Order: sequence, then C-alpha cells, then structure tokens
Amino acid sequence: MYKIAVIPGDGIGTEVINSGVEVLQALSKIVPNLPIGFNHFDWGAKYYKENGVMMPDEGVDELKDYNAIYFGSAGVPDIPDHITLWGLRLKICQGLDQYANLRPVKLLPGISSPLKNVEEKDIDWSFIRENSEGEYSGIGGRSHRGYSNDTAMDITLFTKQGVERIQKFAFEIARSRPRKLLTLVTKSNAQKHGMIMWDEIFKEISEDYRDVNTDKMLVDAMTTRMVLDPKSIDTVVASNLHADILTDLAASLSGSMGIAPTANLDPDKRHPSMFEPIHGSAFDIMGKGIANPIGSYWSAVMMLENLGELQAAQKLMFAIEKLTKDKKVLPKDLGGTNTTKQITKAMIDIISGKNN
Ligand code: IPM
Ligand code: MG
Repeated sequence: MYKIAVIPGDGIGTEVINSGVEVLQALSKIVPNLPIGFNHFDWGAKYYKENGVMMPDEGVDELKDYNAIYFGSAGVPDIPDHITLWGLRLKICQGLDQYANLRPVKLLPGISSPLKNVEEKDIDWSFIRENSEGEYSGIGGRSHRGYSNDTAMDITLFTKQGVERIQKFAFEIARSRPRKLLTLVTKSNAQKHGMIMWDEIFKEISEDYRDVNTDKMLVDAMTTRMVLDPKSIDTVVASNLHADILTDLAASLSGSMGIAPTANLDPDKRHPSMFEPIHGSAFDIMGKGIANPIGSYWSAVMMLENLGELQAAQKLMFAIEKLTKDKKVLPKDLGGTNTTKQITKAMIDIISGKNN
C-alpha cells in the first residue's frame, strides 16, 4: 500500500488537490495492484491562525514515513507570503532535501499557445530548477528598519555540491530524452561569482556526458528564445529563482498556469518527494469552485512515475490528454465554462471507460 501524505494547504490548493485525490482513487480501482492510502494534513494558513505556525516542527519528520507528498499551495491574502512560504512549502522542500525541482512543459492536445504558428510538438521542454539553495537560501538581514537608511540584504548561496548535484541530475534527464540537448541558463555576465561557478561546473560535468549536446543562455536572452524559437529548446537547467521565473513564462506559453505540474524530488531517494501544481493559491478565484485541476492531475502523473507505477501514470496522462483534446469539459482559463467538480467527474468517467 502506498502511503501518500496529502497537504492541500490554502486557496485553490484545497480545491485542486481534493479533485486530484478523487481522480487517483478512481484510478486505483481500475489499475490492478494500485493500492493507495491517503492521509490528509490540515497544515496551512488556518492552522497558522490557530497555532502560530504553518505546520508543527516535528511535521517534517512525520512526512518521512510516507512514499510521497501531494501538495496544493500555501498562501492567503491576510498573512504575508514569506511566512506561508517558509513555514510550509520551503520547510518541507529544504527539510527533506528535495533538491531537484522538475517541471515538464508540453503543449497538450487541443490547447492553444498564445504564440503564433506553434504546433503541439514545438513545445516539449523539461525545466530543472535548483531547489535547495541559491536565491532561496534564506540568508540575509535587515537593519535600520523605519529610518531613512533602511537596509536589506538577501544572499544567494551556491555550494559546489549543490550545483554539481543539480547539474548532474539535469544531464541525466537530458540524456533520457530523445533530443539529448541541455541548455544551461545563468546570468554570468552580471552575477560574477556564483554564476561563473555554475558555468565552470557545467563544463566539467559535460565531459562525463559527451552524448548530450549543450548550450548556454543568459536568463534574459532565454525569455526571448522561449518566445521566438521554442522548437530549439529541450532540457533546461537553472538556479532556483531564474527557473522559477522562466517556468511561469513556460506554463503560460503552453496554454495556462493552471496546467503546469512540478515535482520536488530527492533523486537520492532518502526521503519522499513532493508533487504539486505550480500555480499557487490564486486569490482571485479561490473558493469559487472554478479552479483548473489539470496541474494537480499532471503532478499526480509525476508522483505515480516516481513511485514506479508507470502503467497508472500513463493511464492518467492519457485521460488528461483526452480531456483537453475533446474540449467538451474545460475550465475557464482554457476557454471552457466548467467547474472543478464537473472536470473531476469528466476525468473519472474517462478513467473508468464511461466516456470513450
Ligand atoms: C513556484 C512558486 C513558489 C516559488 C511560490 C509560491 C513561493 O512560484 O513553485 O514556482 O517561488 O517557489
Ligand atoms: Mg513560480
């Protein structure tokens, strides 16, 4: 029995994760030998208001007993974002050393890109985001607050070990994909210490991966390439913040933020990995029941792959693609009019063969 820790969190996170759990339950009835047990955790903003913390301190240890974590989102309008983020999502990612953040980007059948003249096969990218240090190190300080010389500092931390492990992971992913092309994104013209180390380590590691083609882009130029020449991109590795920004762009270019999935992985399998849609709490539509749950379904596909349940993963991905291709039941951000509940039902019908 797979033990899944479910942390819906806040905002539309709760809506889409509950939908994802229903879909996974339906899937586990159809795929032979896919017993999944879910344990729900009520961590998040409500928990914070009652207990002063987003999750208990011993929570990270508790999660170690699970095979995977299925996460929604952290954040509400009336608590500062850095509190909700650091108190929950980053606490888990960093506490379990989920250092590799994998973000696949694909134009799904039936979905149109805001880019002109782009076909389905033109956007098929794999972004690898460093997920344990960099601009999200949490190191820094603030002094003279409230005075005219108010001063603030955030330190970007890169360690050799941290950069090597994420780049090796990216080379492995690039090697496993048909095009075997890895693009390193940095800003080593302006950020002249850490990013130069990224460049140097990349050159060294590439010696061990001679079958993988490589190229390098500065992050600003990368945005242009994504828009003007999407076909030229395959696998991309970048620092925590650079990849955070690029993957919002990537999600939008592939149709909507509502589709995009992510996996916070511990590739060394010491700890469970965490799977979540990348869209966040979406204050503007939360509580309305109209959130797009596709990102949470696709994240569940990644979770099943991580568990080694490839047949189930394929079946779920096929169902997502059927849903988008048929265009009969779609959320608002994809041009439809359906609610999260209606989409959940449509997915369950596809999975259980009622809709073929
Ligand atoms: C993401 C998100 C988060 C991040 C937010 C919610 C803090 O944007 O997963 O891309 O910046 O890491
Ligand atoms: Mg982001």
